[in-house]
Amino acid sequence: MAELVPSVFGANIAQIGESLKVLEENGIKMLHVDMMDGSFVPNIAFGPDQIKMMKMTTSLQFDVHMMVYDPDRYIPRLVEAGAHMITVHAEAGPHLHRSIQLIKSYGVRAGVVLNPGTPVHVLDCVLDDIDVILLMTVDPGLGGQRFFESSLQKIRQTKKYIGNRPIEIEVDGGINDDIAAKCIEAGANLIVVGSYLFNGDIKKNLTTLKETIQKEGNA
Ligand code: DX5
Ligand code: ZN
Repeated sequence: MAELVPSVFGANIAQIGESLKVLEENGIKMLHVDMMDGSFVPNIAFGPDQIKMMKMTTSLQFDVHMMVYDPDRYIPRLVEAGAHMITVHAEAGPHLHRSIQLIKSYGVRAGVVLNPGTPVHVLDCVLDDIDVILLMTVDPGLGGQRFFESSLQKIRQTKKYIGNRPIEIEVDGGINDDIAAKCIEAGANLIVVGSYLFNGDIKKNLTTLKETIQKEGNA
């Protein structure tokens, strides 16, 4: 089953409370929350305190995507804030294994994010430790970018690579209706959508996206 995971980075910050309510009322279970340090990526977004505040206003589960160097510094505070799943970039430092173990030590789901230029085989030594692989389908740090078509091949490759392990494949960046369908067909099941969902009529966009994702996910 495929699932739509809205990225709150694409929402209007002045209306976040209302937007989260609309998502909850329309059957969304998980929210993608980007954390950016202005160094690993050329942008700054949600820190542990803002994430904690957001979490207090909603029952949505939080999928925290850490685009930061030295992620271990923040993992305990993200857990305390109520994160349901935490993903760290394979490119963010030398201690990927340690970061995964740290997340798991709190009983939180752990995942690894791969930039478009990072090959899937960097996960060889941690594949049995992770719950999710997040494939970036744009270079991270900005919303509203164009989806890299080459990502579809990478999704297929990842699907084969994980074999029968219970690992989810999440995709993030430049996703709209049509692209969501293609990603699911290629093997992705957690579909992150930012600007395409939050620009314009959220309810309307949500309905079409959910329809596509459900249809394709059951195909
Ligand atoms: C980008 C972030 C995404 C972003 C996606 O680096 O990781 O989660 O919000 O936004 P769109 O869907 O607009 O590409
Ligand atoms: Zn993200």
